[in-house]
Order: sequence, then structure tokens, then C-alpha cells
Amino acid sequence: MERLRTAGDKVHRGLFNLTSLLSSEYHGKFLRACFEHKHRRPDPWKHEVAPYETAKYTTTLARIPPRPYRRIADIGCSEGTFTRRVADAYPTAEVVGVDISQRALERASRRASAQGLDNVTFTALNIFEDSPDGLFDLVFCSELLYYLGGQERLRTACSRIAALLAPQGLLVAVHPWPESRRLHRPFDSAQRLTQHSEHIETATHRPYAVTVYEHGDLP
Ligand SMILES: C[S@@+](CC[C@H](N)C(=O)[O-])C[C@H]1O[C@@H](n2cnc3c(N)ncnc32)[C@H](O)[C@@H]1O
Repeated sequence: MERLRTAGDKVHRGLFNLTSLLSSEYHGKFLRACFEHKHRRPDPWKHEVAPYETAKYTTTLARIPPRPYRRIADIGCSEGTFTRRVADAYPTAEVVGVDISQRALERASRRASAQGLDNVTFTALNIFEDSPDGLFDLVFCSELLYYLGGQERLRTACSRIAALLAPQGLLVAVHPWPESRRLHRPFDSAQRLTQHSEHIETATHRPYAVTVYEHGDLP
């Protein structure tokens, strides 16, 4: 089973790496079409119901140092399952969820309204082309980077995500371990980021890393 999953992940990464060889314009078109299709039915990754995802969200939130966060971004938020948990955990913060899929964000907004959350908004954009307005003192990037392509595209995406951080802001990257070592490398080597903490969760069928980086500049 484990071998089958690893082989599946390799094919998946290979396909996304190949498509990242397209020009920026066509790569953007591919990602948009791919994730609109993926969201043709609600909750394609079972974020709302899978105990694995719920536990991962709890572990991630537990790794965040207590600070007075004012602006928080969740990049690649899909239907906002985690984003809504963040908005609930930080009720005085302004929370922005970002995703390339308009369809996903329509569901995210509906669920946030149904839950009565008034501190969260959702913005449709491709992180390679556009960015949410302003800077953030907490940025999440979870289960996103393996879709973004080979090393060069990955470096570009990571540098665009890191650029969203306000001075002394925190960036939280959550990806399968040990693949996280490759995926988080651009953050590891970014000049203005230092690693604040890392938690490797191995007591699960799909181990993952929660890596927290801090932006080094003074406010
Ligand atoms: C597996 S989901 C992760 C959802 C959430 N972060 C979590 O961990 O529960 C990955 C999301 O990334 C989004 N995505 C992929 N490429 C993107 C891009 N270039 N810009 C913005 N979002 C993107 C997809 O639409 C998808 O909803």
C-alpha cells in the first residue's frame, strides 16, 4: 500500500513538473483548468470530513506561536476548510484565503457566511501572476507546492509567497515528509527567512512536516 502511494505521488509530481515546462501563459491556463475540473464536485480532497486532515489542521495551529496577528493569508486554500479554522482561531485578525479555482472559492465563501465568520474573505488568483493586497504577519502554504512544477517554478512561487510577509511575519509550510525537504528548500535558502521551528508528524499513514519560517527584517 505504502509503495503504491509513493509510486502514485511520483507520477503525480512528474505530470505537474512536465506541465510547468509550458510557457507562463499556458501553465496558468493549465493550472486553472485543472483545478476548476478538480472542484467540479465539492470537497475533492475530503478536507471537511477526513480525520487525517482535521488532525493535520489541529497540529498546524498548535505550532503557531501566540502573537497578535492582524492579517493572515492562506495560499491555495481550496474550499477554505482550514481558512475557516484560522478565522475562528483568530477572530480579531483579517483573514484572506487565496486559490486559483473560482468554483472552490464560491463554496468557501458560502460556508464562511453560513458559519457566521465575518473576518474572512476569499480572492481568486494564480499565485504566479498575482498577489493578494498588502502584507501579512502570518501566511499559510499547505499542500500546494507539489502542484507548482519543477525547481525553477517552485523557486518563483516560493519567492512570491515569501514576499507577502510583513517584517517579522511568520510563514507556515505544510507538506508531506520527507518530500517537504525538497519542497521547502527555496524557503530554507531565502535570504530574509530563518527557520523558526519544524514539527515532523510521523504517527500517521502519511507523515508531514509543519515548518515555520520567520521574516528577519525589523518592522
Ligand atoms: C490540495 S489543495 C490544499 C488546500 C489547503 N491548503 C489545505 O491544506 O487543506 C491545493 C489547492 O491549491 C490551489 N492551487 C493550485 N495552484 C495554484 C496557484 N498557482 N495559485 C493559487 N492556488 C493554486 C488548488 O486550486 C487547490 O485548491
